[in-house]
Amino acid sequence: MAAPRPWTVLPHDPWERLTESVWTVSGALPDMALRRRMTAVKLSDGRVVIHGAACLEEPAMRELEAWGEPSVMVVPNGFHRLDAHAWKVRYPTIQVLCPADADAAVRKVVAVDGHYDAFPRDAKVTLTPLAGMSRRVPEGVLSAVSPDGRAAHVFNDALFNHPHLPGFTGWVMKTMGSTGGPRVTGLMSLVGVSDRKALNEHYRQLASTPGLAFALPGHGDVISGDVKAVLTQVASG
Ligand SMILES: [Fe+2]
Repeated sequence: MAAPRPWTVLPHDPWERLTESVWTVSGALPDMALRRRMTAVKLSDGRVVIHGAACLEEPAMRELEAWGEPSVMVVPNGFHRLDAHAWKVRYPTIQVLCPADADAAVRKVVAVDGHYDAFPRDAKVTLTPLAGMSRRVPEGVLSAVSPDGRAAHVFNDALFNHPHLPGFTGWVMKTMGSTGGPRVTGLMSLVGVSDRKALNEHYRQLASTPGLAFALPGHGDVISGDVKAVLTQVASG
């Protein structure tokens, strides 16, 4: 196991409380202009699922804990594991889940309790593998319907919505097709997707979710408004 990274807070925004059951926060990554997104989803029994764990300042952590107990931590692929160990230290009983094909990579930093098929059964919250992803970057989608009927889909690297970035790195990312609105990035298309048709079909299915109000990317801004149109557009790539 790699040397554990202690609780390390990088600059981050405040929590965005999208619905009664979905909170999200975007923050910095070390040595990168790209930002990452962590999302918290409340299960029907009040426990909270953490997707893409990131270490926050204490006031933001206390806000979260007052809302519900972090009980399940979804490590959404083998790369988004930076703060998984620190979260497990803070919440020793949290159940750590990751895609089966990311198991070996995630275990390098934290003990894994199970894969996506071990996600708690919940009428309003599901965790489903995304169709068409490669074994190198296996990913899923965490979906939640709030008590008011609004639905949200939480993605990881399979959906970016990051604005263009300044400087040379920004130019490279723009050229690679990583930034500039909702998309499956060029890099993901190259290494993360094995069957684009299947992924597109899955996006189209997700686009038709009743009450769809939000799509949350792994990197970048929350997609709201006509989310159906956005996901349908992403599926045409
Ligand atoms: Fe990522």
